[in-house]
Amino acid sequence: MIQVQNLTRYYGRTPAIQGVSFEVEKGEILGFLGPNAAGKTTTMRILTCYLPATSGSAKVAGFDVFNQSMDVRRRIGYLPEQPPLYTDMTVKAYLHFVAKIKGVDPRERKNRVNEVMEKTDITERQDQVIRKLSKGFKQRVGLAQAMVHNPDVLVLDEPTVGLDPNQIIEVRQLIKNLAGNHTIILSTHILPEVEMTCQRAVIISRGRVVAQDTIANMTQQKRGAGRLVLQVDGPAAPVRDKLASVAGVKKVHASSDNRYEVESEAGRDVRRELAQAVVQNGWGLLELRSKDKDFTLEEVFLNLTTEEGGANA
Ligand SMILES: Nc1ncnc2c1ncn2[C@@H]1O[C@H](COP(=O)(O)OP(=O)(O)O)[C@@H](O)[C@H]1O
Ligand SMILES: [Mg+2]
Repeated sequence: MIQVQNLTRYYGRTPAIQGVSFEVEKGEILGFLGPNAAGKTTTMRILTCYLPATSGSAKVAGFDVFNQSMDVRRRIGYLPEQPPLYTDMTVKAYLHFVAKIKGVDPRERKNRVNEVMEKTDITERQDQVIRKLSKGFKQRVGLAQAMVHNPDVLVLDEPTVGLDPNQIIEVRQLIKNLAGNHTIILSTHILPEVEMTCQRAVIISRGRVVAQDTIANMTQQKRGAGRLVLQVDGPAAPVRDKLASVAGVKKVHASSDNRYEVESEAGRDVRRELAQAVVQNGWGLLELRSKDKDFTLEEVFLNLTTEEGGANA
């Protein structure tokens, strides 16, 4: 749905982003994660046709953001860091106004506005003046305006900044509910936000992409053989023999308390097969866990975005 290729943008002689490339699949929520000044907003402004790139290209739904910006704008909804709200208008009047300037057919406007108010859970506030709303509700209005022309893609720039903890949880849930119907890029400098909301992340630091992968792969330690610990309710010798016979298992060490330490071949995940072997023999699987500590996303992130981590080495 989105292809970004080698995007570079200079402000004067200073590069804000350099050689940024990534893709986003249809229906996916991509976390665009990076510390302040990493280049998140710059990239998003290019994607939404608000800023030309110095070089490189970006496509949304097959349309080039530079040469086919009208087609792109029709398919993209943008929530900037500062939502463009007219605070003296009521929620409903404002959304009708946005629908109009975004070219929504007059006969469709009422339906569209009602639908986005439902989706962002602001229907009950439709007659209130935006200025009087809480920050959390203002942000929902911001989301609603981004969606009013029913775009395939939503670009959300730090959508939870400045909200209180309850509002943050609500807005994150709301964004999660939107995935599937929409392809979403969400920028943030908050690590747990990516873990809670996104399937995949692109990590950007000082204008360059330093990692992109699923959250699971990023946090899984990719070193050699894995070690697992099982606790099995069953007769010790047969259990050990059975575990040892599972394909991909190198060694089984029985310890006290019905526990077994299993060493698997490098890069092989044998957890399903082990669980199956235990259950098929009618034994009880009391515990199955990895002995190797996975990296947290925070460790991955620090590793990639700090100088000692070698991000720009
Ligand atoms: N209009 C501008 N003029 C000059 N420099 C800018 C401008 N906008 C952003 N920058 C610089 O570009 C870099 C990336 O900024 P930005 O894309 O806003 O990062 P982020 O959104 O990740 O915080 C920063 O060093 C910032 O100071
Ligand atoms: Mg920003």
